Amino acid sequence: MDNILQLYPIAQRQRALKGLYLELNLCEQAAVGDVLIYSNYIASVDGRISLRDDDSAEFVVPEAIANKRDWRLYQELAAQSDVMLTSARYFRQLADGKAQDLLPVGSAPEYDDLSEWRQQHGLKDQPDVIVISNSLDIPAAALEKVQDRRVIICTSERAGDAQIGRMESMGLTVLGAGRERVEGKQLRRLLIDQSFRSAYMIAGPEVHRTLVADGVLDYLFLTTQLSLLGHDTFHTILSGQLDQPVDLHLQRLYLDETVSSRQLFAQFALHPD
Ligand SMILES: NC(=O)c1ccc[n+]([C@@H]2O[C@H](COP(=O)([O-])OP(=O)(O)OC[C@H]3O[C@@H](n4cnc5c(N)ncnc54)[C@H](OP(=O)(O)O)[C@@H]3O)[C@@H](O)[C@H]2O)c1
Repeated sequence: MDNILQLYPIAQRQRALKGLYLELNLCEQAAVGDVLIYSNYIASVDGRISLRDDDSAEFVVPEAIANKRDWRLYQELAAQSDVMLTSARYFRQLADGKAQDLLPVGSAPEYDDLSEWRQQHGLKDQPDVIVISNSLDIPAAALEKVQDRRVIICTSERAGDAQIGRMESMGLTVLGAGRERVEGKQLRRLLIDQSFRSAYMIAGPEVHRTLVADGVLDYLFLTTQLSLLGHDTFHTILSGQLDQPVDLHLQRLYLDETVSSRQLFAQFALHPD
């Protein structure tokens, strides 16, 4: 688990992978009455986070970049969250068996320390889930997989009454946070009203833009796998328009020197103090 070289802040020291992100204590960073929102991606050097699979026509995280060491850090970020923010499209892919099952924290023995960590920090066994959707086209079969947690559907005024009724009849809470689309500032307010202190955004480029454009994302964690993938049909970490460029402020940078997964782990702040 070792062989992580800390590059920034400049230290030239070796670190262990295990605990690298857990030590951030993200669940206790927000002031009382506030929430910390963070996102996390793995990308190739040419910026691909997912490629379109020609057979299934679905976008999937490329096998060439997905790896267990990055997944460990993904789990550490999940372990520190009160709630995970995800998209309806993830649940549609999950229902079709095309998404990675499931929202953590993982039950494999190697993640036992994360479950203990949650207990020690007074967190529930699993983070709650917020699904962001305008269409409310969210398959019941996929929602059943997260029955052990509180699930909130976050939508806009565009959502149809029939679809809202269908969600509520499944025992789900449906809350509005925007007129045409879910808006970042309203989503942040909703998180605070629901007493969440740390929210881990695991959706793709549209939800990410929703948060970045409205200035409500606090941290971006980005793993860059040192490879080039090419391919013409892909997602990057952000889609759509921003009114102006958003500056990123490097907080930490690590080089994972393991032969099987040469990659950089970076943490950026969007609104440093
Ligand atoms: N490599 C990585 O680290 C990484 C991480 C995350 C995701 N991915 C990949 O990225 C791809 C796209 O992920 P995704 O589908 O979760 O991405 P997304 O582009 O963030 O989400 C798309 C869906 O979310 C809903 N949505 C997004 N913004 C909304 C808003 N402002 N208001 C209302 N609804 C909104 C819409 O649902 P409705 O259509 O229901 O309205 C939309 O179809 C997937 O292939 C995934 O595997 C990769």
